[in-house]
Amino acid sequence: MSGTAGPLLEGKTAIITGAAAGIGRAAAQVFAAHGARLVLADVDARGGEDTLVLVEQAGGKAVFVETDVTVTDQVDAMVETAVRTFGRLDCAFNNAGTDGDSVPLAQSTDSNWQHVIDVNLTGTYLCMRAELRVMSAQQAGSVVNTSSIAGLVGVNMGLSAYTAAKHGVVGLSKAAALEYAHKNIRVNAVCPGAVRTDLLDHVIRSGALTEEAARGLQPLDRLGAPPEIAQAAAWLCSDQASFVTGVAMPVDGGATCG
Ligand SMILES: NC(=O)c1ccc[n+]([C@@H]2O[C@H](COP(=O)([O-])OP(=O)(O)OC[C@H]3O[C@@H](n4cnc5c(N)ncnc54)[C@H](O)[C@@H]3O)[C@@H](O)[C@H]2O)c1
Repeated sequence: MSGTAGPLLEGKTAIITGAAAGIGRAAAQVFAAHGARLVLADVDARGGEDTLVLVEQAGGKAVFVETDVTVTDQVDAMVETAVRTFGRLDCAFNNAGTDGDSVPLAQSTDSNWQHVIDVNLTGTYLCMRAELRVMSAQQAGSVVNTSSIAGLVGVNMGLSAYTAAKHGVVGLSKAAALEYAHKNIRVNAVCPGAVRTDLLDHVIRSGALTEEAARGLQPLDRLGAPPEIAQAAAWLCSDQASFVTGVAMPVDGGATCG
């Protein structure tokens, strides 16, 4: 059983993907404040470097690695950077994602389908594969994947590819939780409701959803803030959640509880 004293992630090394913006940037700041040493990864190098500066200015320890999570070699290099720089990999927050086009399924394109599945689902798979190799050798680790309320229920916003991908992330997380429990590795998913980020702005700008409707998805009647998702991910990554695995945890202001 884990102790209760000290910062949540003291002495842990964590990878965060999608760290250039939104929930991933908030996670970088929250994980660092909880004592983690970080490998920040994103396809957006400028945003990723800006996050790195924010973490370092707050006294955190981190490196940034430009990484497209859909490219196997880049993902493997990201994980190698964690091991080379910090000697081990304790936690991974696989969070990079994209919504794609908001269009009804019959009007959607093959390229949108492929891109959304590639980033959200295949990207999570590639990250997990590389991370689990290191964690298996250590016989310890905690993985948290970002799904969505669209990974738990259907959403009527022209986001069928996204919804399929996010349901896939939940399935992948549960399968890996069972496969790796005997190696002392936990795998969970967080399922955010509507959170104020560029991704949500993109959905609103597409006309699929008004800001008021986005707020109204949550019985708490407001949008989530990125740190509220980041804190849940930090807890799931930490030893405080030592008996939690295979969970798809809604962090959604009650959106899916009805
Ligand atoms: N904002 C919401 O309302 C909401 C709700 C549920 C789930 N989510 C999920 O939360 C996660 C973070 O999204 P966000 O809302 O912070 O959006 P965001 O757009 O602010 O951040 C997403 C980040 O992922 C990065 N990214 C995109 N494609 C990538 C790739 N191929 N390789 C590496 N990085 C890539 C982007 O550059 C960006 O920095 C996503 O998985 C998203 O699906 C968001």
